[in-house]
Amino acid sequence: MNILKEVSLKAYNTFGVDVYAEQFVHIEQEKDLIQLYEGGWLDRDKRLFLGGGSNMLFVRNYDGLIVHMAIKGITHRILEESIEVKAAGGEVWHDLVCYCVERGFGGIENLSLIPGTVGAAPVQNIGAYGVELQDFFLSCRAFELTTGTFKVFYKEDCQFGYRDSIFKGAQKGKYIITEVNLLLPKKSILNTTYGAINEELNNRGLTHPTIKDVSEVVSSIRQGKLPDPGTIGNAGSFFKNPVVSEDTFRTLVSDFVDIVYYPFGPNQYKLAAGWLIEQCGWKGKTVGNVGTWKNQALVLVNHGKATGLEIYEFSEAIIDSVKKRFGVCLEREVNVIDL
Ligand code: EPU
Repeated sequence: MNILKEVSLKAYNTFGVDVYAEQFVHIEQEKDLIQLYEGGWLDRDKRLFLGGGSNMLFVRNYDGLIVHMAIKGITHRILEESIEVKAAGGEVWHDLVCYCVERGFGGIENLSLIPGTVGAAPVQNIGAYGVELQDFFLSCRAFELTTGTFKVFYKEDCQFGYRDSIFKGAQKGKYIITEVNLLLPKKSILNTTYGAINEELNNRGLTHPTIKDVSEVVSSIRQGKLPDPGTIGNAGSFFKNPVVSEDTFRTLVSDFVDIVYYPFGPNQYKLAAGWLIEQCGWKGKTVGNVGTWKNQALVLVNHGKATGLEIYEFSEAIIDSVKKRFGVCLEREVNVIDL
């Protein structure tokens, strides 16, 4: 394990923002974490754990230690009625999806092509097309930064919610996830209820789709709608879909009849942030080096040379206009480092 100095983070954040880290270390095995702990590196006030950097916006150089989680490995074991899949935190999430799809293990195919690493997936309970990680999550192994020991969190310990978990809440910043265990049913049921999936399956004449078909369809929907971070810097949805109360919702629907929403738990509604942003005239709009994506206003893109601060200021302007027009406060899904 080598502590590097003055490392560019351009390749380590999907926005492609060119900032530097004062110190940088790759973690390739669990014992590297113990070594960091024993060396006193984790006592530093400024340290940040990074997976795929797909949910991070760096607004300035990082004057601390970046710990890049790069532990690899995927295995599985077949149980009586299910399959347990164990993946190391540094694996690319989509590689885990492919591992399962190739072997005919169903469950997470709707989560195809979500950027980021396996270790980051439980933190915000990644979700797409009617499926969330929590639906197939068994447990994860996490390193406790204050004690230098490992702990197992089962699903019920994780307090999963919409883009939320205990790792963003009560235990924020206290653990780093090194391994995720999924429990997939041997007889999985495809989830094609999300409109766009059904439509695309029909277009392809797939009346009896396989797990692989669903994965391919989800991948193609995402590719059509979302920019590829390899080509154009972005971090997926920049904001969360806001959740509002029944009262707020009723007022909004009477003022804006076309508003896009989904019922969300008792007396709550989730609004499509992309719609709110589009209505404020931001869809496909570019200011300097930053813009929203032409096919999905919820995604902010770096047209080449944007600084993190520029992207941040652009997001502030969006928040302001949505607030003025709809009275709704958008929250960022992306983590801003370090305001
Ligand atoms: N819409 C607009 N204009 C836009 C974008 C969306 O009017 O520019 C409206 C449309 O009516 C559309 C609806 O919003 O039908 C929903 O859009 P979409 O299906 O793209 O889903 P989303 O709610 O905007 C969420 C996740 C995505 C995930 C998709 C599909 C959040 C914050 N985002 O987006 O996740 O891929 O659903 O399940 O929940 C991510 O987290 O990075 C991400 C891409």
